[in-house]
Amino acid sequence: MYSSFSWTWTSLVFVLLSYVFYALTKKRNNKYSESLPPGPKGIPILGNLLMLGELPHRDLHHLSKQYGSIMYLRLGFIPTIVVSSPQAAELFLKTYDLNFASRPFNEAAKYISYERKGLSFAEYGSYWRNVRKLCTLELLSNLKIESFKTMRREELGLFIESLKEASRDHVEVDLSAKVLTLSTDMSCLMVFGKKRIHNEHEQKSFHAVVQEGLQLAALFNIADYIPYVGALDLQGLAKRMKVVSKVFDDMFEQIIDEHVDAGDKGQHRDFVDVMLSFMESKDNEFQIERSNIKAIILDMLVGSMDTSSTAIEWVFSELLKHPNVMKKVQQEIERVVGQDRLGRDFQFLPFGQGRRGCPGMQLGLTVVRLVVAQLVHCFDWELPNGMPCTELNMDEEFGLTMPRAKHLSVIPTFRLRI
Ligand code: HEM
Repeated sequence: MYSSFSWTWTSLVFVLLSYVFYALTKKRNNKYSESLPPGPKGIPILGNLLMLGELPHRDLHHLSKQYGSIMYLRLGFIPTIVVSSPQAAELFLKTYDLNFASRPFNEAAKYISYERKGLSFAEYGSYWRNVRKLCTLELLSNLKIESFKTMRREELGLFIESLKEASRDHVEVDLSAKVLTLSTDMSCLMVFGKKRIHNEHEQKSFHAVVQEGLQLAALFNIADYIPYVGALDLQGLAKRMKVVSKVFDDMFEQIIDEHVDAGDKGQHRDFVDVMLSFMESKDNEFQIERSNIKAIILDMLVGSMDTSSTAIEWVFSELLKHPNVMKKVQQEIERVVGQDRLGRDFQFLPFGQGRRGCPGMQLGLTVVRLVVAQLVHCFDWELPNGMPCTELNMDEEFGLTMPRAKHLSVIPTFRLRI
């Protein structure tokens, strides 16, 4: 009773406060509204927020069909432009890229991403430029990616072995979960030199923390759209983000301490080793500290884990759904691995584009190709209980990486003679 009473009061105060700010800012903003692109009419305070449901990308797609490929929405107090055609994307990401090169400073950036000390959320400017250079030259260069080749092959070998076991027993496997574990292991080995976790129980909890972090960063947070009420933490998200961020921080502190104690590892330097020697060197254009290293570790882990595994599960789902294409790919791999055609025509932008485009694209592509090629080459696949491929569920779940809504369950049959 007490809690519902206080909730009602909190909501009333929130609506009142918001309305006062809305009225004040509306007057100021009126002179700009004439030059805005077309868009649906919003309601006071919330703007167009109520038009977005559980799958906001689909709602935006429907709205854009009505209002055009450059559409204006107001999400709470935040003016938002939605761009949805290759031509418009090229205009924004090439011609006017500079104007849109900063990301919003949202609550997740504040609480989880070390107040923007990493690369992903850093404001566009000299700090971002320096960190981006550090990441692209020292961590994500072709040479560095190549140096982890043996590690990738070993992990892939273990992964294929576990699928071969399922093949021998003709049992179904949760391929989504297995691919996520593989991607997590590869990322951890590359970033801090070990699969953080050795037993099943700990592994789950590490995944769980990362998943919780990703989920919190993707959840609709009213404080991002009506900033004046941020301090009230109406949904309790800031509290949860602080908890997750503390778990990450303790873990990263421990990892950095272990690296400092271990000293120079010569050629087998993971990302943390590289960043520590950068921090200690006096010849750099800019200096980084421990907190910067922690923020970058987080970026590299979050940037590589779920993105690659989600891409793999979608590519593989499409192949399962189209067995004739799967056969063709198998034959093609058998013959020769040819040149890939990689369009950058602004039609599909899986890695973004422009200044803030993904710096891990080469690494992501390397992992995705390697895993998909092995899955296709080593096994034939069937769906459980004789399900026809046309019935494979292809629904997505909203999130930072937009994974499958339902995990992919499949039965592998090893098809190679050796
Ligand atoms: C298949 C794999 C991957 C996909 C689909 C992907 C996708 C993306 C996308 C769409 C963006 C936003 C681009 C924009 O705003 O225009 C991005 C940014 C980013 N990605 Fe990736 N990514 C992948 C792999 C990786 C890997 C392996 C890493 C690092 C180890 C990484 C690190 C980052 C970082 C740090 C940013 C932020 C860059 C900045 O703001 O300057 N990504 N990625």
